[in-house]
Formats: sequence, C-alpha cells, structure tokens
Amino acid sequence: MTASAAIRALRGRLLWFSGDPWTQGEAAHHYVADGLLVIENGLVKTAGDTRSLLATLPADAEIIDHRPHLIMPGFIDAHIHMPQTQVVASYGAQLMDWLNRYTFVEEQKLAQQGHAEKLAAFCLDELLANGTTTAAVYGSVHRQSAEAFFRESHRRNTRMIAGKVMMDRNAPEALTDTAESGYRDSSDLIARWHGKGRQLYAITPRFAITSTPEQLAAAGRLAAEHPDCHIQTHIDENRAEIAFARELYPEAADYADIYRRFGLLGPKSLMGHCIHMTHNEWRAFAETGAVAVFCPTSNLFLGSGLFDWAHARQRGVKVAVATDIGGGTSYSMLRTMAEAYKVLQLQGQSLSAFAALHAITLGNAQALGLDPWIGSFEPGREADVVVLDTGATRAMAHRLETARDLAEELFVLVTLGDDRNVVATYVAGERVVRGG
Ligand code: GUN
Ligand code: ZN
Repeated sequence: MTASAAIRALRGRLLWFSGDPWTQGEAAHHYVADGLLVIENGLVKTAGDTRSLLATLPADAEIIDHRPHLIMPGFIDAHIHMPQTQVVASYGAQLMDWLNRYTFVEEQKLAQQGHAEKLAAFCLDELLANGTTTAAVYGSVHRQSAEAFFRESHRRNTRMIAGKVMMDRNAPEALTDTAESGYRDSSDLIARWHGKGRQLYAITPRFAITSTPEQLAAAGRLAAEHPDCHIQTHIDENRAEIAFARELYPEAADYADIYRRFGLLGPKSLMGHCIHMTHNEWRAFAETGAVAVFCPTSNLFLGSGLFDWAHARQRGVKVAVATDIGGGTSYSMLRTMAEAYKVLQLQGQSLSAFAALHAITLGNAQALGLDPWIGSFEPGREADVVVLDTGATRAMAHRLETARDLAEELFVLVTLGDDRNVVATYVAGERVVRGG
C-alpha cells in the first residue's frame, strides 16, 4: 500500500468543540456544513471545508459520503459497569438494597467460565452501537473480568479505561478479595494492560463501604506507584450509603475525607455521583482536582437525588457525565444528556444542546485527561467518530420540520436521540458500526 492510500475522508456536516460553550458561547464549537474529516493512519489529519480540502487529497484517497448527516467525535462515557448489563431495569430498590438484591447476585456469575467474555463483548458492542468510543469501565471483583474486557477492547482497538473492582467486606464471600490479593491482581493487570495499545487502567476500589481501611491503603499505594492510572469509585450517592460509610470511618471528617486520607482524591480520580456533597467536600474536590461524575439516568432510577452542576461549576470542580449502567437505564450518551437536562430543570438550571454535546465529547475527554488523544477533530487526535442522522425516527423527522436553526436541530437530537440516530461509528478511522 502506498502512503497516500492510507487516507480516508468522511464527508458530511462536521461538528466539534475546541472550547467550553458555558464560557465561550458560539466560539466554542466548529460547524462545517459541507465538511471533510481527513484521516490518515487512524488519526485526524485535518477537518474543514470540502471545497478547500478536496483538491488537497491524493487521487486514491477514499471518500465516504455521509451527507447530510452530522459527523462528531465519538462519545465518551465516564462511568459504566460491565458486569451490570443484565442488572439494568431491576425493580423497586434504592442503592444499598439494589446492590444486595440484584447487583451482587449478577456479579457472582462472572466467576463462571466464559461469562466475563460474553459480557465484555456485549458491552463493547452496545457502547459502539450508541456511538460511544471511550468509556471508564468497572469490572467485577474477579481479575478475569478486567482481563476479558481489555482483551476484547484491545482486539477492537478501542480506547478504554477499565479496572478490576476491589472489595473486601460488606459483600457476599464469593465477591470479596483481600487487601493483599486486590493489590496484587490490580498490579498485575496494570503491568499487563495499562498503556498496551489504547488500553488504560483505573484503580477501582468500589466504594468505602466495601473496602477495609487496609484495602483503601493498598489502593492508595497503587495510585502512588502508578500516578498515570485513573482511580474510579463512588461517593455521596445516597443518604443511607453516606451514613454507613461515615460509621465505618469515624475518624474521617466526611465521605470525601475517607478517600483523601488514603491518597485516593486527585486529578485522576473519577468520583461517581457526588449528589449529597457538603461545602467541605466540594472544596476538597476543587483543591485536589478530583472529577465529579454525573450519572443522571442512574440518579433518577435509583431515586438517589439531583446533581447540582451549577454548584460544581461555581466551586471550580471538574464534571464528567456517564451512563452508570446498570443503575443507569440507557447506554446512549444522548439519552443520558436528555435526562441531565431534566435533572437540571428540576433545580432551575438549564443545559443547551451545545453544552450537552460538548460534555459528551471534549468535556469528558478533558475531565478524563484524555483530550490530547480524543474528544475533538484537532489534527493528530485519534479518529474515533460517530455519524448521526438527526431525523432517524418518525417523531424526530416530524419535529425537525419546524426547526429553524442548528441549535434547535441539535436540541431535538439531544432530547429525543439514542442509538437509532447512529448511522456509523469509526474507531481509529475504521468503521465498526453500520447503523440506520
Ligand atoms: N456504589 C457502589 N457500587 C455501586 C454500583 O455498582 N452502582 C451504583 N450506582 N452505585 C454504587
Ligand atoms: Zn457506578
């Protein structure tokens, strides 16, 4: 193959962000009504107007015409549980009961031969079908869960963050490791997978309730030894959870202080939920650079509460957004943002379509510290791409008849959209989903 034959260009309506719509308004996004996304060796070479770029392409460049569809950077999901793909839609419980009644039952099945592999393949299929090309993924306590996920993700060349859950108390015997074995298995997984191809490791103590102080100390040791790994856990999701965590760690000033004491609160920390945060906890997040991960469909489904995004912004805390399958109810980041909008509406806040689409692309990339690689169409970024038909359903096409401008069209997409709108997903320039 000649060098030029490696060039592929996607033609359509390009939309990506280089700034934050909250602070920069219209200047934050780039929209090219007839654009070309030029890809070379899996990376963005350039993105711009078709008229000016077409003449610069070599004669044998492959041009894929996606007009009139939208071409955006692949979506990013900052928190999802791979072992909970068969827990989604479990009836009638809030967090602690839901964990015991449903989640801890399903997660035990990952000890069975082949089950983790089946769930990993399903999870990746479903993410990609929804246009999500990167996610921060929880495994189960079994080392094999993370191993299976990484193997499948590596095979598909997707950029994924994942980790084996660490938990050594307050869970069924079959779902517990020890401070020692959790440390050892996580270390081995980091050595095997962190930085291999596009795979990244997240040190994953489930939450303070299911870890002894010895285990949180071991997680903190891992974090100190591997400062470029993420840390992912849960905090301040549910009142009963908070009371239990405080009881288990009476010496800590608050829930965030539990993690902070063990060196688990820093710029790589992805902290799920953050609903019932105190003044001091917000301050600890701002001081350490920890990321608050907003999971709207989960927070509504489990009756956990309303995430206060305006307050997080005001306090200078980074926010990421996520599905939290299986407490969450949709794999779609569009659907997730539709629910985020409603959560904010209930608090007198708003969320424009541009802010929502920024959040699930560049915003999440920045919150995860991955913006040098993904989240936009800047030259050199990995060419993870979603192609969207904004009028894919009858109801959406009908509604769009009255849309006057791009902002309105995008708001319809965010409010009514899901996987039915995904025409194509590309991973590092290769098409992996053919939808529509
Ligand atoms: N807190 C601890 N584990 C979990 C979990 O699996 N899901 C949710 N939503 N919260 C948690
Ligand atoms: Zn979770």
